[in-house]
Amino acid sequence: MAFQRIRIPRQVANLVGPVVRHPILARRYVDTDEVSGQLQFEILKREGCVPSHRVLEVGCGCLNAGRHVIGYLAADNYVGIDPNDWLVQTAMGEPEVEQVVTTKRARFLHVDTFDASPLGLQFDYVLSHSVLSHAAHWQLDQFLEAVGNVLAPEGRILASIYLAEGNACGSAPAPNLEDSHDEAWVYPGISRFKLRTVLDAADRHGLTAVTVPEYTEFITATRPRECHDWMRFTRTAGE
Ligand SMILES: C[S@@+](CC[C@H](N)C(=O)[O-])C[C@H]1O[C@@H](n2cnc3c(N)ncnc32)[C@H](O)[C@@H]1O
Repeated sequence: MAFQRIRIPRQVANLVGPVVRHPILARRYVDTDEVSGQLQFEILKREGCVPSHRVLEVGCGCLNAGRHVIGYLAADNYVGIDPNDWLVQTAMGEPEVEQVVTTKRARFLHVDTFDASPLGLQFDYVLSHSVLSHAAHWQLDQFLEAVGNVLAPEGRILASIYLAEGNACGSAPAPNLEDSHDEAWVYPGISRFKLRTVLDAADRHGLTAVTVPEYTEFITATRPRECHDWMRFTRTAGE
């Protein structure tokens, strides 16, 4: 309860969260919450996701979106990836989350390579909110290669990112409109990629990328601070 009354600095949540494992600390660490998760889930449905589809969530954190997605999907159809297993474990401490994860046999991989290929599955959707927006420059290619390898032929990758160009919903452009070229994961803090950089990276991995500004508008209508750009990646025809 005490956690709910004070605003915990994010750096403190980052240090204490893995030990204390309280949901408030986990949400402070990921800096999102269930409302954000509900909106992400809505985007997945707008993209045509139905319960029989298989979904990979990259950077599932404390299951803000995952709890809704898992509940919606048929059993065995959700896989979450997050290197910080304490976030998933903390969410599992909430009885309703534990129940839905168990009933739907959701699976988790605690890797930092974005790689779900050891499961030998293909996914109809990959959802990744607020992961590329913190990624090192080299992680963009790593992400697209890994998730591209497990994407079903007609599958879709929905990922939020901060484009260097900024957007009309409150994301300021990078000062020089350039990639931020970060060498390591940026957290807290954000990294930026030029749209051209993302399109070229997608192309290298047999994917075609488009921006989906209506999802930025949709999210910021409720969450003005979450002004990420949203991108949809699909397999390039003939690849
Ligand atoms: C800003 S949080 C967003 C969490 C969640 N998507 C949400 O919206 O609540 C970023 C998440 O990315 C995870 N993360 C960090 N490095 C990662 C990696 N290499 N692969 C997958 N997830 C990663 C962090 O542990 C954290 O859960």
